[in-house]
Amino acid sequence: MNKCPVPADPALHPALAGRFSPVQFDPESTVTSIEIDVLLEAARRAPSAGNSQPWKFIVARRGDANHEQILRRLARSSSLWAPSASLLVVNLAHIFVEGTEDWEYSEFARYDLGQAVAHMTVQGLSMGLAAHQFRAFDRDGIGSDFAVPSHWEVTSITAFGTADPCADEVEAPGTSRERLSLDEITWSRC
Ligand SMILES: Cc1cc2nc3c(=O)[nH]c(=O)nc-3n(C[C@H](O)[C@H](O)[C@H](O)COP(=O)(O)O)c2cc1C
Repeated sequence: MNKCPVPADPALHPALAGRFSPVQFDPESTVTSIEIDVLLEAARRAPSAGNSQPWKFIVARRGDANHEQILRRLARSSSLWAPSASLLVVNLAHIFVEGTEDWEYSEFARYDLGQAVAHMTVQGLSMGLAAHQFRAFDRDGIGSDFAVPSHWEVTSITAFGTADPCADEVEAPGTSRERLSLDEITWSRC
C-alpha cells in the first residue's frame, strides 16, 4: 500500500519555524524588479472581506528616491537597522470611503491588509528574503510626503532583505520574541 511519508516535524513549515524579524540586513544585498513584483503579486492574491482588497503599497528600493524620503521619517530605533534592508514597503489600509471621514470602507480593512502583508512576507521567505515589519516611523509624515489621501491609513512598513547570518535572531531593542503558550491563545469555556 502507498503511504504518505510522515515529515520528521509535522508541526510547522521550516520557513515559519526559522522566521524571525532581523535587526541586521546585508547592506550589499539587492532585490530585482521581478522579485518586487512577485512580492506584490503574493499580496494581490490574498483573500479579503468581500474581495474588497483594501490595501496599497509604497515600494522603496534602497538608494531610490522613495527610499531616501522614507529614511527621513524613521524613528531613531528603526533607523538603526531598517536602512540596510534591500527594500522598504509601506503598507496602507483603505479605511474610509472616499470623501467621508467616518464611513468605514470595510470593517476588516486592517485585518485584510495584515493578511496581505503576511502573504508577502511568506513569499519573501520562499525567495530567501527575511522581513521585519515595524511602526516606528512618522506615519503622518509619510502620508504627507506621498500625498496619501485621508481615507487611507499609513499603517506599517515591512523591511525586506537578506538577514545578516551573524546577527541570527537578535531581538530589536524594546522588542521580545517570547510567545504565549498554545493554552493561552486558545479560548476555552472555564
Ligand atoms: C504591526 C507590527 C509593528 C511592529 N513594530 C515594530 C517596531 O516598531 N520596531 C521593531 O523593532 N519591531 C516591530 N515589530 C516586530 C515585532 O516586535 C516582532 O515581530 C516581535 O517582537 C516578534 O519577533 P519575531 O518577529 O522575530 O518573531 C512590529 C511587528 C508588527 C507586526
